[in-house]
Amino acid sequence: MDILKELGIESVNSGASLSSNEWSTTSDQGVIESINPATGEVIASVNAASEQDYETIIERAEEAFKVWRMTTAPQRGEVVRQIGNALREHKDALGSLVSMEMGKIKAEGDGEVQEMIDMADFAVGQSRMLYGNTMHSERPEHRMYEQWHPLGIVGVISAFNFPVAVWSWNAFVAAVCGNVTVWKPSPKTPLTAIAVQNICNKVLKDNGFPEVFYTFVDGTDNKLADKIINDTRVKKLSFTGSSVVGKMVGVKVAERMGKCLLELSGNNALIIDESADLDNAIPSSAFGAVGTGGQRCTTTRRLIVHENIADKVIESMVGAYGQVKIGNPLDNDTLMGPLIDDVAVKNFEKAVADAVEQGGEVLYGGKAIEGKGHFVEPTIIRAENHWPAVQNETFAPIVYIMTFKTIEEAIEMNNSVRQGLSAAMFSMNMRNIEKFLSAAGSDTGIANINIGTSGAEIGGAFGGEKETGGGREAGSDAWKAYMRRQTNTIFWGEKPALAQGIEFNL
Ligand code: UN1
Repeated sequence: MDILKELGIESVNSGASLSSNEWSTTSDQGVIESINPATGEVIASVNAASEQDYETIIERAEEAFKVWRMTTAPQRGEVVRQIGNALREHKDALGSLVSMEMGKIKAEGDGEVQEMIDMADFAVGQSRMLYGNTMHSERPEHRMYEQWHPLGIVGVISAFNFPVAVWSWNAFVAAVCGNVTVWKPSPKTPLTAIAVQNICNKVLKDNGFPEVFYTFVDGTDNKLADKIINDTRVKKLSFTGSSVVGKMVGVKVAERMGKCLLELSGNNALIIDESADLDNAIPSSAFGAVGTGGQRCTTTRRLIVHENIADKVIESMVGAYGQVKIGNPLDNDTLMGPLIDDVAVKNFEKAVADAVEQGGEVLYGGKAIEGKGHFVEPTIIRAENHWPAVQNETFAPIVYIMTFKTIEEAIEMNNSVRQGLSAAMFSMNMRNIEKFLSAAGSDTGIANINIGTSGAEIGGAFGGEKETGGGREAGSDAWKAYMRRQTNTIFWGEKPALAQGIEFNL
């Protein structure tokens, strides 16, 4: 296939990049097959990395860090600028591979690569803006300021649903900050990781820059994932995945006093009040719930609708769902591809069955689609917020509809889940909007008005509260999470003085 050739993917690939021009030859740790979820066919396979590969990577990463931390930040930005250009060149092929391996539609696969390019551009600018404050010392002839230094090795464990963009949020910012990144991609999407590594490696090698990006594909036993989580040489660990696994990761990293960045489950609500422009609210709700097959952490999972317009909203949503073409994600007119694997389909079926058992009414869909590939129907269920099926995140295109009378009640429902990633309100009512965004409003890390819960731009800090883990990645001042702050006080006068006016006369 031309796409695979362009991206340097062979039928059998190495699962460990040991440097910018060297891939491991390990072949005795098991083989990970990358399966196209739309067809069930193997795209290519990857030799899992060994413990020795991991050790080599960490040792080399530590060596590279010694050079990289003393490379100026704008020079580091220059590398990332070139990587952004290389991604532009390969956007079509990489977008197609994302679509093929993960199952999101081609437009979203391309969008994900665009997110990486945007991130590269952002990081280039940031490389000249790693600002620290200067403070006025309380002592005469003293100067006090803070500066930001890199941490060292940043570990990234990413999920299958955004197989490349989430890595770039971390890796590009980490790189301009002077860190070296070691990446464990999802075993469900190893090829896109290898392709990205190939693109980045070439830029590093062509420029003679230090090797600041490493990747290893773990075997099915998660042995190497465990190693990186517990490794004190890995100063920061950025983990994207479920709250259940994220909690375990957070505890282990905290135990060794490492720094952790958690981007975990969401259970995102979209409130539609009586004043909402439904011509905007309905397509936004449908994209939020059905886009990426409901496999975004920002997917709209709950629709909280004013009771007076509920029937109309349901009718319009059902109408919109009827137009969602399900099929091969690479076909131009497809709007929803498959779920990632059979387990995801089973989870979908279980969630629907649980919701029905708890009293839910299926208003649209509800079934897995027979045949090859892991396809399901996009599903709308009338439900109540407190039901266990609604409280838990199921990574599938199921949206639960519930109704409210007062805005306070809607906000209360919005917040009455364990997760706190994203929320949205569709309204033309200024009081409702401002209440939703106030301190007494949505308790999520992202809160939008008249746009949906998913599809955030990289310029803002991305992440959420409560069981979503509290981490922030990508834009705004998220870069600070990849650096350590040092407060410096310099005395340049002749008469020393202690802080707080303390006299200590010897
Ligand atoms: C994720 O699902 O892990 O805001 C990330 C969005 C995307 C990122 C989602 N930009 O939906």
